[in-house]
Amino acid sequence: MFGVDEMRPSAAMRFPFIFTLFALLTLLAVRSTLAQDARIFRLDGGNSTYAFGVNERGELQTLYWGGRLGPNDRFPPAQSYPEWASFDSSYSTTPQEYVGWGAGLFTEPALKVSFADGNRDLVLHFVRITVNSQQSQEVLLKDVFREIYVTLRYSVDPETGILARSAIIENHEKLPVVIEQAAAAQWTLPPARYTLSYLTGRWAGEWTLNQEPIHAGARVIESRRGSTGHQANPWFAISRDDSQERAGPAIAGEEHGEVWFGALAWSGSWRITVEQDQLDSVRVTGGFNPFDFGYELEPGERLETPVFYGGYSDHGLGGASRLLHRFELAHVLPQAPEPKPRPVIYNSWEATEFRVDEPGQVALAEKAASIGVDRFVMDDGWFGQRKTDNAGLGDWYVNPEKFPNGLKPLIEKVHALGMDFGLWVEPEMVNPDSDLYRKHPDWVLSFPGRPRTEQRNQLVLNLARSDVRDYIEGVLDRLLTENDIAFLKWDYNRNWSEPGWDQVPVAEQRRVYVEFVHNLYSILADLRKKHPALEIESCSGGGGRVDLGILHYTDEVWPSDNTDPFDRLSMQDGFSYAYTPQIMMAWVTDSPHWLNGRSTSLTYRMLSSMQGSLGIGANLNHWTSEDFATAKRLIAAYHSVQPTIVRGDLYRLLSPLDGSEVSATETVSRDKGQAVVFAFTHSTQEGRGFPLLQLQGLDPAAEYKIGWIEGKGIPGTAASASGAWWMRHGIQLDLHGDFQGAAFRLDRQH
Ligand code: DGJ
Repeated sequence: MFGVDEMRPSAAMRFPFIFTLFALLTLLAVRSTLAQDARIFRLDGGNSTYAFGVNERGELQTLYWGGRLGPNDRFPPAQSYPEWASFDSSYSTTPQEYVGWGAGLFTEPALKVSFADGNRDLVLHFVRITVNSQQSQEVLLKDVFREIYVTLRYSVDPETGILARSAIIENHEKLPVVIEQAAAAQWTLPPARYTLSYLTGRWAGEWTLNQEPIHAGARVIESRRGSTGHQANPWFAISRDDSQERAGPAIAGEEHGEVWFGALAWSGSWRITVEQDQLDSVRVTGGFNPFDFGYELEPGERLETPVFYGGYSDHGLGGASRLLHRFELAHVLPQAPEPKPRPVIYNSWEATEFRVDEPGQVALAEKAASIGVDRFVMDDGWFGQRKTDNAGLGDWYVNPEKFPNGLKPLIEKVHALGMDFGLWVEPEMVNPDSDLYRKHPDWVLSFPGRPRTEQRNQLVLNLARSDVRDYIEGVLDRLLTENDIAFLKWDYNRNWSEPGWDQVPVAEQRRVYVEFVHNLYSILADLRKKHPALEIESCSGGGGRVDLGILHYTDEVWPSDNTDPFDRLSMQDGFSYAYTPQIMMAWVTDSPHWLNGRSTSLTYRMLSSMQGSLGIGANLNHWTSEDFATAKRLIAAYHSVQPTIVRGDLYRLLSPLDGSEVSATETVSRDKGQAVVFAFTHSTQEGRGFPLLQLQGLDPAAEYKIGWIEGKGIPGTAASASGAWWMRHGIQLDLHGDFQGAAFRLDRQH
């Protein structure tokens, strides 16, 4: 223990001091006869290195996470940190890879367990490591006395350096244990000045980027809602940039500085805790949300956590998101490693809401086909007794008044027009006014004898039940078998209220938080297997279920019900920190917009949506011939550059945030052969010109020719110039006024 007088070093000095002290102690005391490398494990990928080791007590200790180190670099042996006076034991101060709650731990545990005899102390020690390959390792930990085993899984992507981490907890005791808290992983960074970035929002206001300095204590981002939620998204980034060397607050650099980031692959209740501990280390712990959690493991049973992905970039937040985008395309999405660009869709919702019928949908389909749409999607209203949101959910038969001959005539017409057909469903929900609920009132999440809170007049089916799971899969399988449906828009329009499951013993009821999500994933997986051409969108009243878990099974997401093209610029900006534009559906809808009453031109709306995967959601019955011509021209232009927009490297050139009057993005194809730029004004003040755009990511030596999609440059703008010119000299757009947009492409000349 340090004496009080020794506890004086400033925050910045403490760690070098502690490290030096331990380096000396290590030299003096030879504690282990094992060769040091036998107890140090390292994973390298892309531009990053991750290392951990077994310390003298047998704990698995984090050693390094950051930029790629030399192949011959050697880490000193893992050595536990000292206790901090008598108040924080060494167990609390030492960064562990996966720490059990026990031994006086005051920081966030990875695992907290209650044993049948009342013991709640858990201390995990290293047992063995299995190196599957250079990219994949499994570490077995065990409690010091009890038969609780934890397998930590690590695999690193050689290209991006993104690590996938998860844990499997096994009970080999003679009695059940209750898992009260289980993280997928913990990540630790050494003391420094950091800025935390994270995403929050609400219905119609998702994807707000928050940035704040990390101070002592914890910042919790979470969902207690049973699903991912609009209010926070399971992604974080921690930046340490040049400003740490200057006075003043730290800031997150867009294209410079070190960034550590992570995303949790889980579509149920989740929690990520970012904590600066007593000695200024920063730890990130993420996994199942411990709120109301309690997963009983019978002897011999195991619980597997979701995967927590983590990565590192030394090119700021821009570099971090480019790595994540590449990783999602290559490893997460169902069509990985080469997902097809999304078809340009038409969706009926904003045009007709629940008032769908065969002639109305055919009329829209004809107009959609005329502007070059690839996929026609009929939204809510086609099934059961669905006329409003009061009735019908759960009854997945075709409404005979609206579609007297079933869906086939509409689908055939859509095909004849050269499009494929998609359909809206909301399988996990039921309206009390439905045949399904009348037959199975016990199928919903609820506590017996308690009120059942309705939201949007609907209740949540308990998908954790195997009969409910099988029913949903069966109904959807039949729908897809009987009809030629290329695409399902899978909606989910409320969160859980009373999460009861009284048909199983009390001790098993809280498994609902896990089993519900596993069954959802297994239905999606089975449907894709049985219908290999099927594509699926994850929608939850907009962006309420977007995470790397659901993205293993769904090809795209609906980021928000807010389709206002100006609001979308900042939402799309926020979205892009965590998710690739490939999955970001963006519809062009009517003006003035229903949410803000804002009027914008069709061109502006089209350009805003063309930054992601384009869709049309307007009422085409109200369009003029000029509107049709504009949309047709811009859809054709979009098709010709779509692979670059959705699969290229994204540079956020000018941020739309913080009341910015202007914004701009650029995407560059992976081979640097093409770049596509979008630029927007919110308003022009005092006649100011649009800021100079200095492009990024081009080949400086190659010649690039400019092609205008919309708008123009100031007089004298080059028609062709080197990559160096576009990046250093830059381009000045002739763009001014309120809600104006411009777009151009640069094509490398051979
Ligand atoms: C919410 C979705 O986000 C909308 O796009 C639409 O599908 C409605 N549900 C239909 O009820």
